[in-house]
Amino acid sequence: MKNPWLPEIWVVERRIQESEDTVSLELRPESKAVRPEAEPGQFNMLYSPGYGEIPVSISSMRSGSFLHTIRSVGAISAALAGAQAGSCVGVRGPFGSSWPLSTAFGKNLLLLAGGLGLAPLRPVIEWVRDRREDFADCSVLHGARDRDHLIFRDELVTWQKSPGIHWALTLDHADLDWEGHVGSLPQLLDLVTLDKQTTVALLCGPEIMMRAAAAYLVQLGLPAERIYLSLERNMKCALGFCGHCQLGPEFICRDGPILAYDRVAACLGVKEL
Ligand SMILES: Cc1cc2nc3c(=O)[nH]c(=O)nc-3n(C[C@H](O)[C@H](O)[C@H](O)COP(=O)(O)OP(=O)(O)OC[C@H]3O[C@@H](n4cnc5c(N)ncnc54)[C@H](O)[C@@H]3O)c2cc1C
Ligand code: FES
Repeated sequence: MKNPWLPEIWVVERRIQESEDTVSLELRPESKAVRPEAEPGQFNMLYSPGYGEIPVSISSMRSGSFLHTIRSVGAISAALAGAQAGSCVGVRGPFGSSWPLSTAFGKNLLLLAGGLGLAPLRPVIEWVRDRREDFADCSVLHGARDRDHLIFRDELVTWQKSPGIHWALTLDHADLDWEGHVGSLPQLLDLVTLDKQTTVALLCGPEIMMRAAAAYLVQLGLPAERIYLSLERNMKCALGFCGHCQLGPEFICRDGPILAYDRVAACLGVKEL
């Protein structure tokens, strides 16, 4: 049986520069081992020798590999983002809860992705594109800081042409030739006709955005138990032992990272918890 404490060696098959500070790494096990199963929304602990280990969501799981999309914000993420094709990283996982896709079958899906928050939602978009008939209406609302910070640009062009998936993009700061919306992501909710009876909302992005969007969705009449957030906290073990990722009664590594808003709304309101 696999030891969940020990990273396994995986090889960087492909490195994609998504934006100035963000890259995607396509990773495969170095041994002939088959890639483990994973659910959309789960994460792996990625280890860069000499630097350390951080949680990173799986941004695609379509082939025999995992895609991870990493923004360089500190020592470890910078080391991982600098990994070149052919080099090795350590991988533990997959860990955590997943987006509730099976409970959303037949229902309307509403995805809100702020910035890098598109990465953990990308497997959902791929799932919906592959199995469009499993869901009723599907809307994706995506916001980025500016055009230079958009990730998955080639895929965005293809995804926006997907039959039956409604897209709306917004930028915080736009050039004169930007024809989309300008403003904060939650403002795009005013463009959506929300079916309160069936919609399941999946939110990922900066916590302040998710809090605002979730509160607005509740105000619009969507029950808090049908709003799901992908939460981030500092992690060490990812196995529910060390407590680093605790948010009130929840351990984000074990109970999350995907949690329904009704479970976490009270804690999210507490400053610095
Ligand atoms: C479940 C989960 C999934 C994640 N998925 C991804 C992912 O798909 N891609 C990705 O790039 N990152 C993801 N992260 C965040 C990533 O783990 C952190 O960016 C990383 O731990 C930073 O480590 P560091 O050593 O590079 O920087 P540190 O030295 O730890 O931090 C450098 C600076 O970045 C800030 N920072 C740290 N973490 C975050 C954060 N989560 N968001 C914003 N600022 C932060 C710190 O406050 C500090 O100012 C995820 C986190 C969790 C918990
Ligand atoms: S990271 Fe150790 S308990 Fe969650």
